[in-house]
Amino acid sequence: MVTPRQPAEQTIQPTAKNAENAENGKNTETVKHCVERVGGALPDTELAQLIATQEEIFVRRQPNSAHLAQAAQQHLAGGVTSSWQITAPQPVWLSHGYGSKVYDVDGNEYVDLHGGYGAALAGHGHPAIQEAIKAQVSKGTHFAQPTPNALAVARELAKRFGLPRWRFANSGTEATMDAVHLMRSITGRDLLIKIEGCYHGHHDSVQVSVMPDPEDAGPRDRPNSAPSSTGIPAAITDLTLIATFNDLGSVERILGEHQGQVAGMIIEPIMMNAGIIKPQPGYLAALKDLLHRHGALLTFDEVKTGLTVGPGGVTRQQGVQPDLITLAKSLGGGVSVAAVGGTEAVMDHVASGGYEMVGTFNGNPLAMAATRAMLAEVATDAAYEKIEKLRLRAAEGIEDAISKTGLSAHVVTAGAKGCVVFAAEPVTSYRGFLGVDDRYSHAHWLYQHNGGVFLPPWGKIEQWLISVQHDEADVDRLVENFAVFAQAVGGAP
Ligand SMILES: Cc1ncc(COP(=O)(O)O)c(C=O)c1O
Repeated sequence: MVTPRQPAEQTIQPTAKNAENAENGKNTETVKHCVERVGGALPDTELAQLIATQEEIFVRRQPNSAHLAQAAQQHLAGGVTSSWQITAPQPVWLSHGYGSKVYDVDGNEYVDLHGGYGAALAGHGHPAIQEAIKAQVSKGTHFAQPTPNALAVARELAKRFGLPRWRFANSGTEATMDAVHLMRSITGRDLLIKIEGCYHGHHDSVQVSVMPDPEDAGPRDRPNSAPSSTGIPAAITDLTLIATFNDLGSVERILGEHQGQVAGMIIEPIMMNAGIIKPQPGYLAALKDLLHRHGALLTFDEVKTGLTVGPGGVTRQQGVQPDLITLAKSLGGGVSVAAVGGTEAVMDHVASGGYEMVGTFNGNPLAMAATRAMLAEVATDAAYEKIEKLRLRAAEGIEDAISKTGLSAHVVTAGAKGCVVFAAEPVTSYRGFLGVDDRYSHAHWLYQHNGGVFLPPWGKIEQWLISVQHDEADVDRLVENFAVFAQAVGGAP
């Protein structure tokens, strides 16, 4: 498979009634869940029918989105601004967000647990972020020179993540690209180790075995370097060697077969682009020791986990200090920003000019002002305590519904992030994840959406994000929708 997430065909045409609603700017359809008691796992035809019914409801609620999606085909490639916004049955066009909610262009309100693919830990319109941005806008939004906020942010990140020196970028992709360049530049070696099923952005070296189809993935004990994007020369793809999460032996094998050639390894320390897969005890520490024994470096890609699993990411939780950390997503309180942290040895290489780490918008004053506010006033200890209570409430509520219906599923959470895995057994690596039934994930996403909860699309891959502005009522809506869904697909005891 070439792209990790294949956009669905857009076949929905606005009906006359939808067009009328669209003109009024109103959605007059009432949402009704299709609750059918079917018992246990549904036969394929019934599951397909249930999905079709929910997709129909979905489209009926969103005539304005349908109009815009259609019109956008002419001037936005694929009708969207990023390919992962193309979702089945149609993209959802949003009008605004406020607090824990977002509103679509048809006037529907959603509890926002999509969080802009994990970037909205602050929720929407957080007063501290608003203030910081307003204050900076009137003082200038771009200089390409350092500002005092950049130093304050770097100091705080050093305190939280334990790495002493930092630089900034604008997206997770840029951050992981710099990390990979740095590992190669410092060691003078070309090979990179990456975990099968991890996503690290869309630059050449990491678009490998992100979500390979079983037929492309290769043997379990010797995964292929499968291209995950077109447009990348095979010569570059071949430099990225694929290991298995939670399997130290797979890394040992690669290091042994390529003595003195591996620059380093990049890994999400909790996998978060394949549901949520946690490291087994001792795995991350052993990985670091192993790589260092071979003169290779270790990067934790905490773009997604960073501030969402806790104040100092997985790094602080697990007490394992990598050579490099990458952050992005929630870091800027909704403003585009990324950071790369390094040990003294790593960042001395930058300071001495061994690697030119550059970018016109790096350390942009607007981004730095928002990030400083995010760290000082939003991602606080009190906020994490509140999120922890909501995490428990969501996990317990959904597990309760699962046990009442006998659905083959379980909940995995990590701080503000969580997901339902539609498999009975825990998943420990990408090969296990391949067995998760994504039809149930899609059906669940539709039920939540039609019930006023916006989870990230691509439900099997993604997670919910509880922001600092969510409350118990928001989580209860998630749990209630799940119970309706579970009853429809799992039956009652
Ligand atoms: C773990 C991880 N790293 C890097 C990236 C790339 O970040 P961006 O989309 O900001 O380029 C992502 C994006 O989803 C990610 O999940």
